[in-house]
Amino acid sequence: MDKFIIEGGKSLYGSVAIQSAKNAVLPLLAASILTDEQVKIHKCPRIRDVMNMVQILNELGCKTTYDGEDLIIDSADAACHEIPSALAKELRSSVFMLGSVISRFSRARIAYPGGCDIGLRPIDLHLKGLKRLGVQIDEEGGYINCSCDRIVGAEVLLDCPSVGATENIILAAVKGKGTTIVKNAAREPEISDLQNFLNAMGAKVYGCGTPTVVVEGVSRLHGAEYTPIPDRIEAGTFLIAAAMCGGEIEVCNADAENIASLLHKLREISCKVWAKDDKIYIRSKDKPLSPNLVETQPYPGFPTDLQAQMTALSCVAEGSTLIVENLFETRFKHVPELIKMGADITVRGRSALVRGVNNLHGADVVASDLRGGAALTLAGLAAEGNTTVTDLSYIDRGYFGFEYKLRDLGAKIKRIHI
Ligand code: UD1
Repeated sequence: MDKFIIEGGKSLYGSVAIQSAKNAVLPLLAASILTDEQVKIHKCPRIRDVMNMVQILNELGCKTTYDGEDLIIDSADAACHEIPSALAKELRSSVFMLGSVISRFSRARIAYPGGCDIGLRPIDLHLKGLKRLGVQIDEEGGYINCSCDRIVGAEVLLDCPSVGATENIILAAVKGKGTTIVKNAAREPEISDLQNFLNAMGAKVYGCGTPTVVVEGVSRLHGAEYTPIPDRIEAGTFLIAAAMCGGEIEVCNADAENIASLLHKLREISCKVWAKDDKIYIRSKDKPLSPNLVETQPYPGFPTDLQAQMTALSCVAEGSTLIVENLFETRFKHVPELIKMGADITVRGRSALVRGVNNLHGADVVASDLRGGAALTLAGLAAEGNTTVTDLSYIDRGYFGFEYKLRDLGAKIKRIHI
C-alpha cells in the first residue's frame, strides 16, 4: 500500500499539463466495441480506472495496445458478453459496458458494479432506460442478465439527470432501430464528448449538452481516431491547490468553460484567475476568503467531484463555509481525516459547516475515495509540518503522476512503497 509523505507550507509556481478526462475516456472505451474496426484514443491516461476498463475489453476478446500515449482497440474478434465480476466490482463505469455489449452481442451479463463508496449509487435508471429500448433484464445472484433481439428506439424520461444512465442509453440506442429520445438527460461535457466520438464513428447523436438527446439509430459504425476533452476535475484540483498554498500557476490543456462554476468561486475568494486559449492561470497571494456556500449540482452547477477539494480549501479560508452535497449520500469521508489535521468541521446529513482555522497541522491520514484522497493531499500541502496520506490506490484511479506534477510546481511530496 503506497503512501505520500508531504512537507507542507510551500507555495506553488509553474506550469502543469492536464490529462484527458477520466470520465470522458471510460465511456469512449465502452463505445469502442460498437465497431469491429480499429479505434484509436489519443492521449489515453494510464490511470487505474482506465487500465481496469482496458482489462475488461481484453476479457471480452478485444486486442488493446498502447502506442506511446495512444490506446488502440481492435474488437474484431470480441466474442464474450460477460463482464468478469472481479473487474465489475473494482470499477463502477463497467456498467456503461451494458449498453454497448447488448448492442454488439444482443446479450450481456455483469456483476453489480463497484467503484468509490460515496453513497448508494443505484443503477435503476440505467436498467429502466434499457428496458424502454426493449431489453429484457433479469437480476439473480448479484448478476444482471440482459438480452434482446434488437434494440428499438423509444422515449426515455430520466427521473434525475444521471450521467452514466444518459451515456448507457445513448450507447445502447446508437445502432438500434429508429429514434431514441432521452429527456431530462445529464448535460456534463463528457457526454458531449461521447456524442462527438460516436458521430466520428458514423453515429447520429444530437443534443448532448442539453436536457434532450436524440439518437437516430444507424446500421453500422466504423473505426475512428479521437482526442478526448481535458480532465476538468484534475484541472480544478490543481487550481484549488494553488488557491490554498499561494503562488502562481498555469494549468495547460484545460477548458475554462467546463469549470466555470469553480473559476467563479475562486474569483469570489480573492484569487486572480484568467484564461487564454487552452490555459487557465491562477495567482493567489493571501489567505483565501471563505467561499460561503458550496452546493454541488449536476452540470453546469458546482461538480460533486470537486466538493472534497473545496472542503479542504474552506478549512484554511478566512471565515465559515457551508458545503452541501446534493448528489451522493456519504461523500464526507475525508472530513474526520481533515479534523485530525486541525480542521473545524461539523457534518449534519448532506451538509458540512467548515469554520476556517489559521493553520492545519500535519497528521497521518487515510484516503477512502478518489477525490477525498486528493483533498487530503491538498490539505497536507497547505498544512504546517509533515502529513502522510495512505492509501494511494484511490488517488491512482483518477490522477496520473499526481506527485510528479505537484513536485514540478514546487511541492515537497514523495511516494513511499510499503
Ligand atoms: C458520474 C461520474 C462521477 C460523478 C457523477 C456525478 C463517471 C465515470 N463518473 O458518475 O465521477 O461524481 O457522474 O457528476 O462519469 N442515480 C440514481 N439511479 C441511477 C443512476 C444514478 O438514482 O440509476 C442518482 C445517483 O444516486 C446520484 C445521481 O443520480 O444521486 C447522479 O449520479 P450519476 O450522474 O449517475 O453518477 P455516475 O454516472 O455514477
